[in-house]
Amino acid sequence: MLPRSRQALTRQIDQFVIAEIGGTFVGCGSLFRLGNDLVEVRSIGLREEGKGKGVGTMILEKLVEEARRQRIPKIMALTYATDFFLKNGFAVVEKEIFPEKVWTDCVNCKKQHACDEIAVLKRLD
Ligand SMILES: CC(C)(COP(=O)(O)OP(=O)(O)OC[C@H]1O[C@@H](n2cnc3c(N)ncnc32)[C@H](O)[C@@H]1OP(=O)(O)O)[C@@H](O)C(=O)NCCC(=O)NCCS
Repeated sequence: MLPRSRQALTRQIDQFVIAEIGGTFVGCGSLFRLGNDLVEVRSIGLREEGKGKGVGTMILEKLVEEARRQRIPKIMALTYATDFFLKNGFAVVEKEIFPEKVWTDCVNCKKQHACDEIAVLKRLD
């Protein structure tokens, strides 16, 4: 997961889903629109005490549901938690099929020439 500035988070706050257990915040995830037909899962992460209980899956399902509601046919992520996404119906793809991502974010990323994150995609159409 990449660090995000407070300013960037404030701008995107309405795109976030949060999870609570017993009224306590345990995790979140967000959607970021990359183009007319593509949205990215960003900032999906749980506090240690929230992990391994299906909460991540619930957050991801909510984000997928929201992408469907907006009629966006493709949802992607760059991740190290590849199996988590595979278990939720995503497939591994080449990063290069997302020029929208490469030319907006990756060009400004310190790791751009040594990116070891895996691209995953789920088609919703
Ligand atoms: C990845 C993360 C959101 C998963 O949330 P979670 O609630 O623990 O996951 P779930 O309980 O819904 O697990 C669903 C499945 O994904 C697998 N999984 C969970 N975390 C995983 C990980 N980090 N890597 C690979 N697979 C993982 C689980 O084993 C589980 O499989 P099972 O159904 O066969 O048992 C959480 O571990 C996390 O916050 N990780 C740190 C931040 C991160 O890596 N975010 C992803 C950045 S894109």
